[in-house]
Amino acid sequence: MNNPYKSLFLLDQKLIHLNHGSFGACPRPIFDSLISWQKKLELNPVKHLAFDIFKYLENSRYELSKYINCNKEDIVFFPNPSTALNTVIKSLELKPEDEILTTNHEYGALDKTWNFICKKTGAKYIKQNIKLPLKSKKDFINTFINGINKKTKVIFISHITSPTGLIFPVKEICEIAKENNIFCIIDGAHVPGHINLDIKELDPDIYTGACHKWMCAPKGTSFLYAKKEIQDFIDPLVISWGYDNDKPIDLLSDISSYSKYLNYHQWQGTNDPSSYLTIPDVIKFLDENNWYKVSEKCKKINIEAREMVNKHLNQDPISSEEFIGQMSSIKIKCKDTFELQKIFYENYKMIIPVIEWENSTLLRFSIQAYNSMEDIEKLIFALKKIKYI
Ligand SMILES: Cc1ncc(COP(=O)(O)O)c(C=O)c1O
Repeated sequence: MNNPYKSLFLLDQKLIHLNHGSFGACPRPIFDSLISWQKKLELNPVKHLAFDIFKYLENSRYELSKYINCNKEDIVFFPNPSTALNTVIKSLELKPEDEILTTNHEYGALDKTWNFICKKTGAKYIKQNIKLPLKSKKDFINTFINGINKKTKVIFISHITSPTGLIFPVKEICEIAKENNIFCIIDGAHVPGHINLDIKELDPDIYTGACHKWMCAPKGTSFLYAKKEIQDFIDPLVISWGYDNDKPIDLLSDISSYSKYLNYHQWQGTNDPSSYLTIPDVIKFLDENNWYKVSEKCKKINIEAREMVNKHLNQDPISSEEFIGQMSSIKIKCKDTFELQKIFYENYKMIIPVIEWENSTLLRFSIQAYNSMEDIEKLIFALKKIKYI
């Protein structure tokens, strides 16, 4: 059966793309919006980049803030979650006796960021071992809070995990952090456009999300949310015009709109902000195409697919269904993850990540609008043929 969404995306139609999770993919109308912003800025770079840009960014922040339910003054755009979180993590004043509590399911680059900061400050990065299969929220919460003690200064946790593709119960974790006066940072890279995101309801101290993954925005579109009370302690990663400036760097706005947070982080030297400016068009696209329903359908396909692939590989699911969205990770036996991905690509035109995690190997597939059960049947066909596994 023809999938009507497939031709909407710019992906190479000859490929079987089962890795939306890594970098997302952009539908044509959104990509067109990117190009039209680039053209508009190029017509008069000084007018648009020195003056109008802050109004354009404000409009994008406004639309995004409605989508994720927060105030537009509390979010700033960043190219990716790593940059957003490096900004926050490098601003924390950690001491040798402090602990950062996390899980063993976090994104590798951010584990490295924490290791870097711990090396500098002497603080300790404590990984709570969330064992698989993950059966219930209660199991998760009990295991996680076992790691809290008097030294715990920061909780850092993914809302949807990278290697294992699991939706963690962060609402409960944010509540526990608050009760214990612990600073709470949520890595929601995979969340916007994937599951409902309501920042006011979660009420974390810090939240980051990528718009270029499941919202299908152009690459390099992410945001940092910071709770009002803690915004002023976050140093800019790059010192630029907004530093040490007691008026808005937006010369067209009045002093009443001054925000140190926006001044510090919105302008970090010349860059192409076009991808950020597509956000109103991105959200319009998602609304017009009933993306909520599309996403629900993808989740159903994913659940069915995960059952089929697990069965084929003779594996048990790594979690119960309540933790699953549009990604599934399946245990697989494999000697070399790079080699296996190469075989999938070269012999089957299939893009699928194979991830080394906790002494095991995981095959992770993502289901987006352009995927169908046919792709999973092709995956099982490839798995049957590949001798390497
Ligand atoms: C859980 C998680 N956090 C953060 C990121 C951000 O990645 P990057 O900043 O390298 O784009 C990713 C990317 O896949 C991720 O899966």
